[in-house]
Amino acid sequence: MADMNAFEKNQEVKTVDTSKKMRVGIIGTGWIAEAHIEAYKRQPDVEIVAAADLIPGKAAAFMKRYGIEGAKTDYASHKEMIDDKSLKLDAVSICTYNRQHAGPAIYALDNGINVLLEKPMCVTIEEAAEIVKAEKRSGKVISIGFQPRFSPNMQMIKKIVQSGELGDIYYVQTGGGRRRGIPTPFGTTFIEDETAGLGALADIGCYSLDLVLNALGNPKPLTVSGYKSAFFGTDPNYSNYVKTGHPEYAKKFGVDDFAAAFVRLEGGITLDFRIAWAMNIDTPGDTIFLGTKGGLRVPSTDCWNGTLTKPMTIYHEVAGEQVETVVPLKADINLWDAKIRSFLDACKEGGKAPVPSADIIYNQAILDGIAKSNAVGREIEIVIPEC
Ligand SMILES: NC(=O)c1ccc[n+]([C@@H]2O[C@H](COP(=O)([O-])OP(=O)(O)OC[C@H]3O[C@@H](n4cnc5c(N)ncnc54)[C@H](O)[C@@H]3O)[C@@H](O)[C@H]2O)c1
Repeated sequence: MADMNAFEKNQEVKTVDTSKKMRVGIIGTGWIAEAHIEAYKRQPDVEIVAAADLIPGKAAAFMKRYGIEGAKTDYASHKEMIDDKSLKLDAVSICTYNRQHAGPAIYALDNGINVLLEKPMCVTIEEAAEIVKAEKRSGKVISIGFQPRFSPNMQMIKKIVQSGELGDIYYVQTGGGRRRGIPTPFGTTFIEDETAGLGALADIGCYSLDLVLNALGNPKPLTVSGYKSAFFGTDPNYSNYVKTGHPEYAKKFGVDDFAAAFVRLEGGITLDFRIAWAMNIDTPGDTIFLGTKGGLRVPSTDCWNGTLTKPMTIYHEVAGEQVETVVPLKADINLWDAKIRSFLDACKEGGKAPVPSADIIYNQAILDGIAKSNAVGREIEIVIPEC
């Protein structure tokens, strides 16, 4: 019980105290805000009181679409909404693009508001450290939006690794991606440097990293040799640009569509990572854990939400014989409800955030380290600022 967060405890008793309603605001009303609002609407102790977006009218249309009456939306940005003390906000969901994660998160925390921040945590390690400092100053909860952590299959990976069944882990390979999957169905906020900052790395790479770092108990990353490229995104003849009639996106593309890295983690573990929004192969490989007593294979997915589609296999020896144990897939739960509920429980009951910044700062350190190592063309030491 001691290590459980509020969500895990409530999973056991399944009660929601409705005597106190949480007053929630949404910052950024694009695609992912839809998943947040739908999950908030299913919680009996939530009142959605406001939303803000940089694009005039977008937040109002969003609230109308979801039938939220009486919510305030006429704010030019997150700042005006947070400054509106009449809202008495308990919590905000930050659903903005990556470059607008740190600023709104720090501003909300400094104004005494709990924060559910979408993944990736931010773009640079310096921003991540500032977020952690704001969290400490405020004493409020900040949870980072990695909903795969609530998947029973993802939790099973952690259970297997932590059980000691594989012995000491010394090598991990992770990553995934798509043959053609640069995310532009809703415009260019994922591919422009000024909005996204990082591409496949931060969009889906952060999930692969969280899968393994969380399973390993969040070892600190020490050094990284990183590489990133953008051959598909910058090509006006990229097939999906051509199919959708947007060759001009090639000129807007300012991030990575492929990245790879070799990372040394505390505890003598090496991590081999690769991720792609586009590539000329079906998969860059499964996630594998190699340990002194056994190995675990987690079949590759396109990594956008962490759902497993095929069973995992443990490779070990039983009575001196080489044996494979297939771990059956578990039925998934509604990850969005789990993500929102766990955050609300932590805000109401205090204690540890369900997806703590102290874990995710290591994820961010690797993303940032890959970008920095790529820029200098060699391995670098990972330096996490004091926070
Ligand atoms: N957890 C998941 O499964 C998941 C899935 C998709 C996206 N995401 C993350 O969610 C974030 C948003 O993705 P999206 O697809 O919704 O992007 P989007 O571009 O569709 O929406 C972002 C919205 O934020 C608004 N915005 C930006 N800065 C703002 C500010 N300071 N104040 C108010 N509004 C602001 C923009 O105008 C835009 O409408 C990204 O960081 C992405 O990585 C998470």
